Amino acid sequence: MDKKLLSIKNLKKNFLIQNKILKAVDDVSFDIIKGKTFAIVGESGCGKSSIANMIANLIKPTSGQILFENRSIFKNDNELKKNIQMIFQDPYLSLNPKMKISEIILEPIKIHKKFKKEKELNLLTSLLNQVNLSSTIAKRYPHELSGGQRQRIAIARSIALNPKFIICDEPLSSLDISTSSQIISLLKNLQQNLNLSYLFISHNLAVVKYISQNAAVMYLGKFLELAPSSKLFLNPLHPYTQALISASFSFKKKNNDKVILKNEIPSPLNPPKGCLFSTRCPYAKNECFEIRPALKEVEKDHQVACHLVKTPSN
Ligand SMILES: Nc1ncnc2c1ncn2[C@@H]1O[C@H](COP(=O)(O)OP(=O)(O)OP(=O)(O)O)[C@@H](O)[C@H]1O
Ligand SMILES: [Mg+2]
Repeated sequence: MDKKLLSIKNLKKNFLIQNKILKAVDDVSFDIIKGKTFAIVGESGCGKSSIANMIANLIKPTSGQILFENRSIFKNDNELKKNIQMIFQDPYLSLNPKMKISEIILEPIKIHKKFKKEKELNLLTSLLNQVNLSSTIAKRYPHELSGGQRQRIAIARSIALNPKFIICDEPLSSLDISTSSQIISLLKNLQQNLNLSYLFISHNLAVVKYISQNAAVMYLGKFLELAPSSKLFLNPLHPYTQALISASFSFKKKNNDKVILKNEIPSPLNPPKGCLFSTRCPYAKNECFEIRPALKEVEKDHQVACHLVKTPSN
């Protein structure tokens, strides 16, 4: 049996903007399995980072639960803080420019553990080794490094405390293609060697297909489809997932198989009344504009929120 590391239940985050409620995350539930990767994909502004920031305890949810090994993460628990780490999209912004690489990587150790100098230096060398960087880099400053090297430093820092879980919020978006693929391989190798679990956030479906075992497709604060990645990519059921996949892997598809999206993504301050995707869905019927479909299991572990996808019971 796969073991749950994290359980996210009915998570909501509202922001108040000009006296209107913006539902950035609207009743999202999912589990993250030990040693595996859960991916969230979706267009800009759909709520991915809001989920990441709540799990990292950087912002407070409006409601809902986040359990890490069955304990709420909202308790101010040092053990939890060590076990949940995060890497961000832009390693230019996430690394303090005034600190040397050695100080950046060892900062979590200085905060949480009191190691002797020699043990610190050994750890520093080992961490740099694990992210395939030479230890000569330790004396340098972030601005002296390339984007890929900087992201490796952020990764080295994130594993310094031997965490069980790392949130990767678009860790490849600021990198070129060849550097991206090196960083993905590094994340995969570290996952295997250290039995890490990841929450991996991305716009890029090819990357998600490669790196994740489970994935959710998010739109205007809600999950529209949630499934093991193999099922999601082989048999996408929601028209939005189909559209994202056909846009990403279009070279493999014949033109008449493509799902083309009409209209723009609606404002999250004024979402459609019925299905959130109804204004762009090529198949929308009357009920889609009136009634919001719930996320329902249509086959084992495969959930979809769409009136047009029939569940086994109907
Ligand atoms: N601190 C905040 N105050 C007000 N609104 C916010 C705040 N943070 C996020 N939002 C809004 O919440 C929604 C979700 O934002 P979020 O950053 O989670 O999206 P995202 O999916 O990570 O987008 P991107 O792909 O661009 O990073 C957006 O409409 C955003 O404008
Ligand atoms: Mg984001």
